[in-house]
Amino acid sequence: VEVLEHELEDIYNTAVELARKAGEAIREAFYKEKNVEIKQSAADLVTETDQAVEKMIQDLIMKKYPHHKFIGEETVSADGSACSLTDDFTWIIDPVDGTTNFVHSIPEVAFSCGILVNKQVVIGVIYVPILDQMYTAKKGQGSFVNGKKLSVSSVKELKSAAIIMEGGSSRDPDVLSTKINNIHSVLKSCHGIRAYGSAAINLCKVASGMYEAYVEFGIHCWDIVAGMLILQEAGGVNKDTTGEEIDIMRRRIIGANCENIITEIASKLTQIDVGRD
Ligand code: IPD
Ligand code: CA
Ligand code: CA
Ligand code: CA
Repeated sequence: VEVLEHELEDIYNTAVELARKAGEAIREAFYKEKNVEIKQSAADLVTETDQAVEKMIQDLIMKKYPHHKFIGEETVSADGSACSLTDDFTWIIDPVDGTTNFVHSIPEVAFSCGILVNKQVVIGVIYVPILDQMYTAKKGQGSFVNGKKLSVSSVKELKSAAIIMEGGSSRDPDVLSTKINNIHSVLKSCHGIRAYGSAAINLCKVASGMYEAYVEFGIHCWDIVAGMLILQEAGGVNKDTTGEEIDIMRRRIIGANCENIITEIASKLTQIDVGRD
C-alpha cells in the first residue's frame, strides 16, 4: 500500500481526537458503579465501558476511513475471530487497557490505538484519561507525552535496573507457577520489580526512562502495538521473550531500553507458549 505524508498526518490527528473521545467516556464512567462480566478466567474482566468505547471508536473509524481494517479486543473476544493482518491500513485498538484497574477505580487505565500499514506500526497513541497523559508517536519522528519528548534510560546492566513484570489474567496453574519462577529469577538480579496493570502504560513507563524493561507472557496485539512504537521512538527495543525478533501475534514481549538488558532477561526466563492471536 502506498502511503502519503499528508494522509498519515490526517490519520494521526484523527487518532488523537478519538483517544480524547474515548478518554471522556472512560472518565465519565470511572467513579460510577461498574457492570462487570468475566471472560476466559475469573480474573479476565470486561465492563459495559470496554464494549461501548470500542463500538464508538470503531464506528467513527469506519465512517471516516471505510477502506481501513479494524482489530479491537472486545470485537475479537465476542466473535472469536483470529487476527489476520494485511498490508492495508489497520487500526488495532484496546478500548480500556487495565480493565481490572478500571473496576477498582485505580487510575492506571488507558485507551490504546496503534495504526499499521504494510504490517508496520506507523502511529501509536495511548491516552490515560484520569491522569490526562497523552502519549504519541509517529514512526521516525520521536515519541512524546503531552508534547514533551520521551527518551529511555541509559542503564545498561540488569543489576542496576528496575523491571516491570505482570501477573496477567490467566489462572492456569502451570502458567502461574512459571510466571512466579520468572519473577523470582529476574528479581534476584535487579533493583526491583513493579507492575501497573496496563501493558500500554508499562511500555510508556519504559519509554519515559523510569524502568529499563517490561516483560510479559500472554499479552495480545492490541495491548502492545501502540506502546511498541512509543518505546521504539524513545530509543528502546521490542523483542520476543526469547530475545529473538518480536511477532506481534505471538503474545509475548520484552520491551526495553537496550539490547543488553533484553539478552540478560531472556537468559533468565522459562518460556511459556501461549498460542497466537
Ligand atoms: C491487560 C493489561 C494487563 C496485562 C494483561 C492484559 P486488559 O489488558 O494490559 O496489564 O497484564 O495481560 O490482558 O484486559 O485490561 O485490556
Ligand atoms: Ca481484557
Ligand atoms: Ca489490554
Ligand atoms: Ca482491554
